Amino acid sequence: PLPIVILISGRGSNMRAIAEQATKGKLTVEIRAVISDRADAVGLATAAEFGIPAAALSPRDYADRPAYDAALASLVASYSPSLVVLAGFMRILTPNFIGPFADRILNIHPSLLPKYRGLHTHRRALEAGDTHHGVSVHFVTQELDGGPVIIQARVPVLVGDTEADLSARVQRQEHRIYPEAIEWFAQGRLELREDRAWLDGRRLDEPVTT
Ligand code: GAR
Repeated sequence: PLPIVILISGRGSNMRAIAEQATKGKLTVEIRAVISDRADAVGLATAAEFGIPAAALSPRDYADRPAYDAALASLVASYSPSLVVLAGFMRILTPNFIGPFADRILNIHPSLLPKYRGLHTHRRALEAGDTHHGVSVHFVTQELDGGPVIIQARVPVLVGDTEADLSARVQRQEHRIYPEAIEWFAQGRLELREDRAWLDGRRLDEPVTT
């Protein structure tokens, strides 16, 4: 199995979905650790439930962002992962973190990238009157939410939807497509090369949609 480390900041429902698939043998990964930037992240207890080593590393203990990212990189590297999975990790990462794991960091972002990089994506989709919204899995590069997109799922925006309704609809898709993309990577089918995503030796000019 592919050794991975998952970074979270909160609930960790994506981490749970990944752990469940791995437990069932549907996902060929070994989750070596779950690390949170917040000690109060609910997901840390979930990780412990699965018997996964869980740790918090607080930015408050570091002078600045680069110092924190260097410490985070050392901690993650101590588990020797072949892939780093960002699952609701709500911090902007600097080269001190991205550098050591270049080409092997995935993120899930709750919008149809390149639409709505950054925060409050569900609210922004509602305010724009979009009829569709969705979620993207992408490789992480130095550009915030700007790395090559691998797979996207679309959901409809329904009349009367609240932010919470839309978020719940998107999350059901997250729990489906994130394990799928991770399994592609585990099978050696997916790579980041020349700043693009490649699947089965073909360059993805458009993300896979599902
Ligand atoms: C997910 O919806 C994920 O797409 C989003 O945070 C949520 C985490 O949920 N990520 C971002 O907004 C990244 N900028 P979870 O903790 O239940 O997996």
